[in-house]
Amino acid sequence: MTEPSDTPTWYGRGLPHVWLPYCQMKVAPPPLPVVRTHGCRIVLADGRELIDGIASWWSVCHGYNHPYIREAVERQLATMPHVMFGGLAHEPALTLASRLSAMAPPGLSRVFFTDSGSIAVEVALKMTLQYWLNKGRTRKTRFLCFSDGYHGDTLGAMAVSDPARSMHKAFREVVPRHFVVDVPSGAASFADVDRILDEHAHEIAAMIVEPLVQGAGGMRFHSPEALSGLHRLAKDHDLLFIADEIATGFWRTGYRFACESAGARPDILCVGKALTGGTLTMGATLAAEHVFEAFLSDDWDAALMHGPTFMANPLACAAANASLDLFEREPKEGRVRRIEARLREGLEPCRRLPGVVDVRVRGAIGVVQLAEGGDVYALRPRFVEQGVWIRPFKDVVYLMPPLVIDDAELEILTGAIRRVLEEAR
Ligand SMILES: Cc1ncc(COP(=O)(O)O)c(C=O)c1O
Repeated sequence: MTEPSDTPTWYGRGLPHVWLPYCQMKVAPPPLPVVRTHGCRIVLADGRELIDGIASWWSVCHGYNHPYIREAVERQLATMPHVMFGGLAHEPALTLASRLSAMAPPGLSRVFFTDSGSIAVEVALKMTLQYWLNKGRTRKTRFLCFSDGYHGDTLGAMAVSDPARSMHKAFREVVPRHFVVDVPSGAASFADVDRILDEHAHEIAAMIVEPLVQGAGGMRFHSPEALSGLHRLAKDHDLLFIADEIATGFWRTGYRFACESAGARPDILCVGKALTGGTLTMGATLAAEHVFEAFLSDDWDAALMHGPTFMANPLACAAANASLDLFEREPKEGRVRRIEARLREGLEPCRRLPGVVDVRVRGAIGVVQLAEGGDVYALRPRFVEQGVWIRPFKDVVYLMPPLVIDDAELEILTGAIRRVLEEAR
């Protein structure tokens, strides 16, 4: 990695000491030095401003550095930046727990706070396994999960992600093996799920699904009918239903939670990313009361033994409460519908470009699917030259912008995709 010229001194001093995410450090281009963020903009050290098309890994829903969230965090910083959550409770966490439980699909009465999305998934898996253990169902130790699924980078989360096609495929022999099936696309395609459940439901603890949109596994969409069919099968076969809404929650798909599109009532729901408006790291695992009750016992061994040091961090809770205020004050349904329409108009022309095999849009997510085999990583610097921050991966170029993005900025983003793909053909 060689650094760009004219860079700040902190950059040259620090770069040789960091190990960067999701990249081959031998050949990856150096990261761009950033000095500031505001609204939908990322400001680089050389003064260039990029319009962010992916909202910092889909988290910055209200735009960067929102004054309302910043002020809430600053107020919290002045009184109590952190305190442990074991044996102590504080107002920002309890307020947030009651608000999340009130806004989530019905029945999710208990909130377990975590420090990231992957850990929210780990907690969901652990809760599920122990739920069955506590009920004496000791054979229910496996999960039903989906091809192209992605649930995080920790070992348990990797094990329920697609084992063959994901970026974690190197680990497939060392993580526990679960049942993996394609997300059904029509009535006939439920046959595989049916077969697995008929044969193995007695050993399956839960089904885990990313509702409506599978994100980091390839930006694949499925219908509310497929989702409600899966939910019904999980219930019919005595499985818990875990909805991983870390990417889809908080109006990203046009619904507050994507599960609502199918009337699905998860037993466990994971949230993260946009929970704090993308300001601070936080996740949460919401459980239905019947899940919680399975842990109530005179036997300490039946308790959930989990408690990350920074769980329910007051600064993160303050940011999340402020983010929920903003969602209440400025309803997002209309905005997401508008973004959806603009993404459709702006990306649809890509369909006729060579190498493009599909264009799809759902809520504030727009995807241009390329034929397999191209080098999408080579496109990344071309987008920066166009003044936008867009990071294609696998075989997709996609947009998941802040939900506050305006039409002019959206046109710049979609125009950049049209131009870069046109030039690349
Ligand atoms: C559906 C889903 N689950 C879990 C995660 C992991 O979240 P985090 O990166 O906060 O650990 C992600 C992150 O992209 C995700 O999209």
